[in-house]
Amino acid sequence: MNSESGHLSFFHTLTFKLSVVLVLFFSINGISLVLWDQKDLLEGIKLDTQIAYADEGRLLAEAVVPVIGDPEATQAYLDSVTYNYPGMELFILDSAGNVLHNASDVPSKLIRPQISMAPIFAFINSTPDDYPIDVDIPTSNELKFVFSAARINPTEEQPLYAMVTFLGGGDDPELSFWAKYGALLTRTILFSLAIASLTGLIIWAGFTRRVNLAAASVRRYKTGTNGVKIEDNSHDELSHVAHAFNEMVDRVNGMMDELVLKEKSRGELVATVSHELQTPLTVIQGNIETLVLHQDQIDAETMRHKLRTIHNQIKHLSNLIGDLATISILDTGQMKISTEPFLLSELAESTIEEFEKFLGEKHLTVVRQFQQPPEPVEADPIRIRQVLRNLLSNAIKFTPEQGTITLATRVTALTIEFSISDTGIGIPEHETKHIFTSFYRSQKSNTQKVKGTGLGLAICRKILKLHESELSVQSTEGAGATFSFGLRRYTSTN
Ligand SMILES: Nc1ncnc2c1ncn2[C@@H]1O[C@H](COP(=O)(O)OP(=O)(O)OP(=O)(O)O)[C@@H](O)[C@H]1O
Ligand SMILES: [Mg+2]
Repeated sequence: MNSESGHLSFFHTLTFKLSVVLVLFFSINGISLVLWDQKDLLEGIKLDTQIAYADEGRLLAEAVVPVIGDPEATQAYLDSVTYNYPGMELFILDSAGNVLHNASDVPSKLIRPQISMAPIFAFINSTPDDYPIDVDIPTSNELKFVFSAARINPTEEQPLYAMVTFLGGGDDPELSFWAKYGALLTRTILFSLAIASLTGLIIWAGFTRRVNLAAASVRRYKTGTNGVKIEDNSHDELSHVAHAFNEMVDRVNGMMDELVLKEKSRGELVATVSHELQTPLTVIQGNIETLVLHQDQIDAETMRHKLRTIHNQIKHLSNLIGDLATISILDTGQMKISTEPFLLSELAESTIEEFEKFLGEKHLTVVRQFQQPPEPVEADPIRIRQVLRNLLSNAIKFTPEQGTITLATRVTALTIEFSISDTGIGIPEHETKHIFTSFYRSQKSNTQKVKGTGLGLAICRKILKLHESELSVQSTEGAGATFSFGLRRYTSTN
């Protein structure tokens, strides 16, 4: 089942297992018929018959001595004997195996006028340990059967032989198939049915147990109890359903976790945004009040300082509101990108210039590793500038003084890969999957001291998604972080 929801092997299906039971049923039927009928039954009867009638040949040989000179009398005698012994056939043969007389209680035709004498000589010289011995039956093409034989006239030069066979001469046309094999068939069918039912029952019992376990899991899931996964390690249809159910549980649990996190983040956002709005507003309000109430006593320098503070706080407010607007436009799918060819390295260079003041304040070194010659990308330069600004601003914010920020481009067959690495505080592994979520900020205390709303990376990721690109991060906590993404290379046929 791949998941794992993968391919289901036919050999594990219930259909296959049931087929095996059926095949077993029929095979056992057939095999028992052949084995019992042919081997045990027939062989047993043959041996018993030959032992029981071993002397009959000799008795017949002695009995026909008085009439053997007269063919008609001989034939009449043989006929009279078989009349009294149904199922017996009598033959008088010469030493070459020619049948001189034959008699049977049922109408029979002489099909083999001459037979091999070898079995007859073998019988005459045998002991019961050699039984059963088969002879060709002169009145049948196919059958061989046990017999009893003896020499009639031991002293004469051309000896004759008396042979008695039992059940010989082929099938009794009077007996129906059912009469001959009915008991055997009934017995084997019943036996096979018992085996097949037992096998079926065992399979069915296992199946029912597993269905009950699965149903219990689903019931637990409905009531929200823990431990709802279905434990099933087989590889058939039912285990596929179990795997699909387990996958669904995993996905729903994942979605629930995400929702809870989102809800928590949103709650925190309201607090953060209120706080972020409140702080500059309070500063602006305080400064304006001072200016209005004490305008007469304020010198020009203090006035300039207060106005600059008001200006900075308004700029901060404006940025925050801008970010909120951007994320909501991105979230509602209203942002459209308009692409054109441009050089990523040039855009990066001009973004670095924008941040020169902050880079200088923290004495950060910027390393450029732009692959030469530069190749243009096909993207929206305004939006990509926004991405670069956010990434560079993060690198500056989260890198201590004297650190290094490296910007690099690498040309691949279809894309230009961009990366920005810093030697800053890095991101704990368990947080890397959350930092792209709107309003998420690292729980690290030193991050909390840095200003921000946790919208930057969410905006970057969404903008890059519009460019069919993915923003990825690699970081070692305490040793810096690298963010990277790829943009489609511009070609004249783009
Ligand atoms: N270069 C980096 N080094 C270490 N941590 C980082 C880096 N970039 C981002 N982070 C972590 O990811 C979090 C989310 O970053 P993001 O840019 O979305 O928000 P922010 O910078 O805190 O706020 P904003 O960008 O909205 O002003 C950050 O708070 C920080 O914890
Ligand atoms: Mg940021």
